[in-house]
Amino acid sequence: MIRIRPRARGPLAVELHGPCELYGLDGVALDLAGKTRVLLCRCGHSKQAPICDGSHYQTDFEKPAAPPDADDAHDAHDAHDAHDAHDAPPT
Ligand code: FES
Repeated sequence: MIRIRPRARGPLAVELHGPCELYGLDGVALDLAGKTRVLLCRCGHSKQAPICDGSHYQTDFEKPAAPPDADDAHDAHDAHDAHDAHDAPPT
């Protein structure tokens, strides 16, 4: 089993309870022998991607916002249109 937990403002903590294969950006398998946990970068700033190297501490990385549901997205679009109409210069 593999358990994955996102850390607020940080990586995905992956607990390894069995075999797992993880590959680097070059397509080469990473050596996970003896590891029970890996931290996967999700900020995009790690120089050792896909492994977190702590670079997220030097960024303003925030966890991705939850996607809005369809009704919220529609309301936001309407509000944006109304705002644009209000700010439009007189013709
Ligand atoms: S989440 Fe840690 S370097 Fe990206």
